[in-house]
Amino acid sequence: MADKQRPFLDFYNEHGIAPVSQDISDLARHFARRAALYRHCGLPPAFVAGRRVLEIGPGTGHNAIFTNSLKPIRYVLLDGNLRSLNETRARLAQHFTDISNCTVVAGDLHDYDTNEQFDLVLCEGTLPTQKDPQAALRRISQLVAPGGMIIITCIDSVSWLSELLRLLLTHLLLPDEVKDMSTQLAILRPVFAPHLETLRGRSRPVDEWIQDNLLQPLLGQLLSIEDAIITLDESFDVYGISPHFLSDWRWYKDINTNTANYNSRAIAGYRRNIHNFLDYRFVHEEITSNAGAALHSHCVIIYELAKQTPGHTRTEIVKIINHLQKLHSVIPSVAAKTAEALAEFIDSLKSYRRGEAFSPRLPHFSPWFGRGQQYLSFLRRE
Ligand SMILES: C[S@@+](CC[C@H](N)C(=O)[O-])C[C@H]1O[C@@H](n2cnc3c(N)ncnc32)[C@H](O)[C@@H]1O
Repeated sequence: MADKQRPFLDFYNEHGIAPVSQDISDLARHFARRAALYRHCGLPPAFVAGRRVLEIGPGTGHNAIFTNSLKPIRYVLLDGNLRSLNETRARLAQHFTDISNCTVVAGDLHDYDTNEQFDLVLCEGTLPTQKDPQAALRRISQLVAPGGMIIITCIDSVSWLSELLRLLLTHLLLPDEVKDMSTQLAILRPVFAPHLETLRGRSRPVDEWIQDNLLQPLLGQLLSIEDAIITLDESFDVYGISPHFLSDWRWYKDINTNTANYNSRAIAGYRRNIHNFLDYRFVHEEITSNAGAALHSHCVIIYELAKQTPGHTRTEIVKIINHLQKLHSVIPSVAAKTAEALAEFIDSLKSYRRGEAFSPRLPHFSPWFGRGQQYLSFLRRE
């Protein structure tokens, strides 16, 4: 690929990092987390035994050791970052005496050229923020054998809003002249570590979270659940989802090939629940598709503003404040705590704009995280 600024790869390779490691000192706990994820995705452990698996973007291989423990007959792991490749190879070798079923391949997912097809394709934390995630998804979906499964992650501007606001905060906190990553981390760590401490179930080191979410340039597009379903609609049906928010109360005898509509039903369910991705601490009643669309369109604008180069001028800050205020007005009234966190964030931006001493200590905002990325599994029609 002749793309000069490739999301993830250029930043990771330039700094020699793979900032996605996990604390797996309690291996049983790590395996239980992964088993819970696969369960939500509708993937029984026995499905993997004896199957051909492709993982795209294994990162540091922490998740791969669980997948390999399920005994795939062939396990191909493709990554375009040198450090990721080395760590994945080392971690597999450390945890298994025989890894002759595993092949770790260096390459860019956009160029991966093979005639091989796989029973299971995994692509976690890698599609959203690619330049064209839908094209990338279409491409990797061709590697799934008929009847096989693909598991991907999706992020939309609603589930990512709290992170986008942290990114805006980062732009205000980092002076332009500070280019060195260790100095940047020294400035950001005391601000964001307390936020992450409130996050239940976190397993990634703080510095790596900052590198990946705040220092990495945001170059591409997000991929929502709806985008992913539309992209694969011709040959795949949605199967599982994590968080597990979709239900289907139909009598199975009423479902046939003409009435199944798994994909359109999932999109409708997603639209009615999109506000539930805003804040992981709460689950609210469903809302109308129109209310969901209004929330989404405001968050899309915030995404585009947050993507712009760091070092916002005061005029840009006013623009951001205006959009955040509009967003605040469409947050469902039941989401009072989320609205309170957003109001506090808006107030702090206003102080910054007025040139007042700007404190990043935001007690209502700090514990607010969205439902980040969601996992979606699809089955390829036979
Ligand atoms: C954010 S990390 C996710 C790692 C791991 N799957 C996880 O969920 O913890 C993204 C991974 O995908 C790899 N990656 C990103 N873009 C890629 C591309 N175009 N081709 C191949 N690998 C890519 C990165 O090197 C990195 O290992």
